[in-house]
Amino acid sequence: MKKFIKIERKIDSFNKIINVEGDKSLSIRWVIMSSLSKKKSIAYNLLKSEDVMNAVKCVKALGSKVKFLKNKCEIIGNGFDFSNKKNLTLNAGNSGTLGRLILGLLINSKKEIKLIGDKSLSKRDFSRVTRPLKKFGAKFKGDKSLPLKMRGLNNPKAINYLEKKGSAQCKTSIMIAALKSEGLTNIKAKKSRDHTELLFKHLKIPIQIKKGDKNYDYIQVKGIKKIEPLNYKIPGDISSCAFFIVLTLLSKKSQLLIKNINVNPTRIGIIKILTMMGAEITFINKKSYKGEKISDILVKSTKNLNGINCPTKYNSSAIDEFLVIFLVAAKSKGVSYFKDLSELNQKESPRLEWASKILDFIGIKNITTKNSIKIFGNPNLSLNKKINIKNFSKDHRIFMMSVIAALTFGGMWKIYDLDSIKTSFPKFLEILKKIEH
Ligand code: S3P
Repeated sequence: MKKFIKIERKIDSFNKIINVEGDKSLSIRWVIMSSLSKKKSIAYNLLKSEDVMNAVKCVKALGSKVKFLKNKCEIIGNGFDFSNKKNLTLNAGNSGTLGRLILGLLINSKKEIKLIGDKSLSKRDFSRVTRPLKKFGAKFKGDKSLPLKMRGLNNPKAINYLEKKGSAQCKTSIMIAALKSEGLTNIKAKKSRDHTELLFKHLKIPIQIKKGDKNYDYIQVKGIKKIEPLNYKIPGDISSCAFFIVLTLLSKKSQLLIKNINVNPTRIGIIKILTMMGAEITFINKKSYKGEKISDILVKSTKNLNGINCPTKYNSSAIDEFLVIFLVAAKSKGVSYFKDLSELNQKESPRLEWASKILDFIGIKNITTKNSIKIFGNPNLSLNKKINIKNFSKDHRIFMMSVIAALTFGGMWKIYDLDSIKTSFPKFLEILKKIEH
């Protein structure tokens, strides 16, 4: 039986301080980058979710030694080479980030390696990374989706690469392959989260970044032979705290302080968008850490929220948060319009389609196309009906979005596939309990 949660209550007012778990993007990157050094790397606050644990399993299978201690994780990698076992199969589970990054890492695998994933990941597009990896010289059996087989080569040569989707996963995959290749790889990439660039800089990997025009960055990576270990205190994930930011905003007379969050400018689209809609959100105690920006976030419930014609410049930096932003639009005055969002349908589930279905369930008029959504907000939205949310491809963010909708709009909700939260935010319900009691 699929596990579900029943919610038949609205949240009361609260005033709490919370921490959320470690940033998923940084956790997966730490695992992969640590596997490239032969010395010991240490991470504190590594996210212990299924996506990250699958990354750990992959690097272990490739020869890294991994140790979990009380509050830290240690990896002694195997450098740029692999143990190159025969018939190796790696499983990326539900994670697009892991699946795409690991292919970059495999650019110099001399044996054929099979990459598999779960049902949702097997539906996602992999040609976006196999195409540029072929330019380095990699060979594939099945190059559009998982399962696929990849064989790298001894001496991959640098390439020129144009990344047009604004995908940090693709950009990072190619940056990792470039690191292991001979020469200078030139990347022109539509702007997206820049954690990998910051990690490369911190590790003193030869990288040059030129801010091209307002939409693209020019990145040059020079291949090298070895890297230093990476010690890292992973800050909290803004994509996880997004659910509680929206919960606070939409509930009455509440306040929430969320500690130690990664507020990298390429990740805070949600804050920019919600502030434009009238939200009261403040950064407190801002500091820098290894190139990243970290801050506590203070959010207060806000009565008068307004619809937004959302500037597309925030699409990439809010890509994982749109589901909850749509909930705010549902409760705002006026019409909100979000466009150029076809990438949202390329995630763990077709999220734009799902957002539209959920808005239909809660009686919010919306006009949704393949790449846009218009939401006709209702500030008085309050439900008293049964809503079942199921068959959403076990998309963790659809589950958590539905929980927030139930707690703020009311009604009798039954939300299936509770285990999906293990993908990115295993402590979601535990932290929610802390907020409620
Ligand atoms: C991620 C990049 C984004 C995001 C994903 C994590 C990353 O995907 O949706 O959850 O860690 O690089 P795309 O790069 O495909 O947009």
